Amino acid sequence: MSTVVCTFAELAPNSATRFMVDGVPVAIVRLGDDIYAVGDMCSHADLSLSEGELWCDEKAIECWKHGSRFDLVTGEALTLPATQPIPVFVARVVDGNVEVDVEFEVGKGPSR
Ligand code: FES
Repeated sequence: MSTVVCTFAELAPNSATRFMVDGVPVAIVRLGDDIYAVGDMCSHADLSLSEGELWCDEKAIECWKHGSRFDLVTGEALTLPATQPIPVFVARVVDGNVEVDVEFEVGKGPSR
């Protein structure tokens, strides 16, 4: 089930924002006019990825603590020390609202 987390206009271009969606920490990332939603927790330790740096051309987000970079499309850990992926959720803009479904992980199916 999709949950409205904010309006698209509330998200600054090329930014990451943390939301709690049905009890799940989610980083909503806006790159230009595109939206991505990933678990807002580094897989190396429990730190918020939305506080890290965005790599816009690579569509990646970097953990501020030890520098692991994660692919926003696949969730794959691109650089060490993290080796495990992060969850990627379905996100879309409907009538100006950003909707996320945390019960369905991209590439994996139902998450609960
Ligand atoms: S906590 Fe994120 S790379 Fe170590």
